[in-house]
Amino acid sequence: MNVASDYRDSHTAVGKGKVYHSSFSQYSWRRIMWEWEQRTLVEIFEEKLPKDGTIMDFACGTGRILNFLQTQSPNVTGVDISDSMLEVTRKNLPNIEIVQADLTRDNVLKEANRQFDVITSFRFFLKAQNELRIEVLDTLHPLLKEHGTFVVNNHGPAMSLGVLLEIFYGRLKNLIRTPEKKVTFYRMSHKHFKKLLNNAGFEIETTYHRSVFPIMNEKTPRDVSKFEKFENWCSTKKFLRPLARNVVYVCKKK
Ligand SMILES: C[S@@+](CC[C@H](N)C(=O)[O-])C[C@H]1O[C@@H](n2cnc3c(N)ncnc32)[C@H](O)[C@@H]1O
Repeated sequence: MNVASDYRDSHTAVGKGKVYHSSFSQYSWRRIMWEWEQRTLVEIFEEKLPKDGTIMDFACGTGRILNFLQTQSPNVTGVDISDSMLEVTRKNLPNIEIVQADLTRDNVLKEANRQFDVITSFRFFLKAQNELRIEVLDTLHPLLKEHGTFVVNNHGPAMSLGVLLEIFYGRLKNLIRTPEKKVTFYRMSHKHFKKLLNNAGFEIETTYHRSVFPIMNEKTPRDVSKFEKFENWCSTKKFLRPLARNVVYVCKKK
């Protein structure tokens, strides 16, 4: 299987950081989605981020989100456990505060009485095992200020057309793959994520949706920018939202 049983170990291999980081310029779906996520964050922050407010990016990886966040506030902190991922961040963003820790086991930020106006976390919750999702949400809740905002995404919603097709064809292909080459697929329903957020003391205020056009593979070598006009239309249609491949949740404390 191509997956670590504990998501904490998923991005620790030597060289993983460099490969992961370059995928956002190499593959058009990832590049376009990241452009949309940035536009979405700008819109959210206009309302939710106080001037020079504090932002923590949880599971910051190679600093993709941090690089954008530093344009929004001078008070940005990144948290991750992986040397391989943080090596890229430290090289590209030497002036940003990085906390290398597993906050679920050693909450150095809580011990230091730190709290943030905004906490972001992208591309973490879908693939983390459920116990870790719960532990992380319970850890992040007290680190968010009373009227703070938690922004988090799910890039594998259970009803997404692209995800469903990817899983269907992927499972067929798995039938002829050797055990060590078999691929694991992920999906997480809105209902389940909402329940996890709720149980941890978060309430969803708004959601943003993108990628209704059924892209089966985030790393497709094809240029998917030609579907952008169609996507722009789809994103305005409420009834198409459940089919989207990427959902951004804006949450507050209950
Ligand atoms: C797919 S990467 C996402 C990176 C970044 N957020 C982005 O969207 O580009 C997932 C990250 O979660 C990190 N991670 C896994 N478990 C963690 C934990 N318990 N605490 C902090 N980071 C963790 C991994 O090291 C990895 O860098």
